[in-house]
Amino acid sequence: MAGKIAVVTGSNKGIGYAIVKELCKRGVSVVYLTARDIQRGQKAVEELKKEGYSPSFYQLEVNNEDNVKSFAKHLKKTHGGLDILINNAGVIVKDFRETTYEDSVHVLDINYKAILTIEKYIYPLLKNNARVINVSSDCGHISNINNKYWIERLTKDDLGQEDVDDFVEWFLDSVKNGTINYNDFAENTLVAYRVSKVALCALSKVQQKQIGRNISINSLHPGFVKTSMTKGAGYLTMDEAAQTPAYLALDVDQTVKGKYFWFDKTEKDWQNYDLKLYPKLAMIENELKSM
Ligand SMILES: NC(=O)c1ccc[n+]([C@@H]2O[C@H](COP(=O)([O-])OP(=O)(O)OC[C@H]3O[C@@H](n4cnc5c(N)ncnc54)[C@H](OP(=O)(O)O)[C@@H]3O)[C@@H](O)[C@H]2O)c1
Repeated sequence: MAGKIAVVTGSNKGIGYAIVKELCKRGVSVVYLTARDIQRGQKAVEELKKEGYSPSFYQLEVNNEDNVKSFAKHLKKTHGGLDILINNAGVIVKDFRETTYEDSVHVLDINYKAILTIEKYIYPLLKNNARVINVSSDCGHISNINNKYWIERLTKDDLGQEDVDDFVEWFLDSVKNGTINYNDFAENTLVAYRVSKVALCALSKVQQKQIGRNISINSLHPGFVKTSMTKGAGYLTMDEAAQTPAYLALDVDQTVKGKYFWFDKTEKDWQNYDLKLYPKLAMIENELKSM
């Protein structure tokens, strides 16, 4: 791990924070804890220092193009490039059951479109054999979508970015125009979040096909994890949830590319609708109620 440079987005708290800690623990030379808020970020760095780790810090709001650009410049100047990029920053819908246009735009901007900005400025700095891990969700499995047209288009062999962009715009237009059909989704809950994470998994496949230089790009579901996103509900601690991202970043064979992983380090077939891997909200709500 010596000599490696790693970046984790959205890592002032939650799963991202635990990933930073795990990568430091595993001896990665430089690990960037990044946060959109400087104070929250620096406080997190201080907490890790108390535990004996020394992450670097950079202020990074992933959906701010100028900010991503200046971080890329910094990485190039200071390190010449990077070996590990964990796209972890993410947000969930404000209300599980209500799909509004404003909230959907916000969720798609951060969970999907920001990855395109990062691809533009930071992917060119990835060193040969680098690894990118896109933190998706069980909401990102194709079985979250019921619409036959989109299932076929998003799982075709020659999938391209325009297919994924069209899917996202189709969804946003339908929310804006009030034409959304909830039967197109596994459940009528968390819909914008599901769309954002399905798009992220599909984009990971597109990016893998394009990137070359023996770089791997995999996506994963980190599990149902006790963080502020789940209001503390979940089956895994943050430290447990950091294990699979660290495994993909450091341990898995470099030949593993363009795959979708589960929190137990097994690979799942992202394209297989029949696996029905989408989360059942009733289960999540029971967890929340029992708290
Ligand atoms: N927890 C789960 O059960 C679960 C399940 C499946 C997938 N995931 C995914 O795992 C990832 C981490 O989630 P989590 O549970 O750890 O959530 P979390 O505790 O809410 O942490 C999210 C992190 O993302 C940051 N963030 C949000 N918007 C950002 C932006 N525009 N720019 C930069 N950073 C931003 C947050 O910063 P602030 O503190 O400034 O808000 C925070 O550091 C997300 O992608 C999430 O979708 C989580």
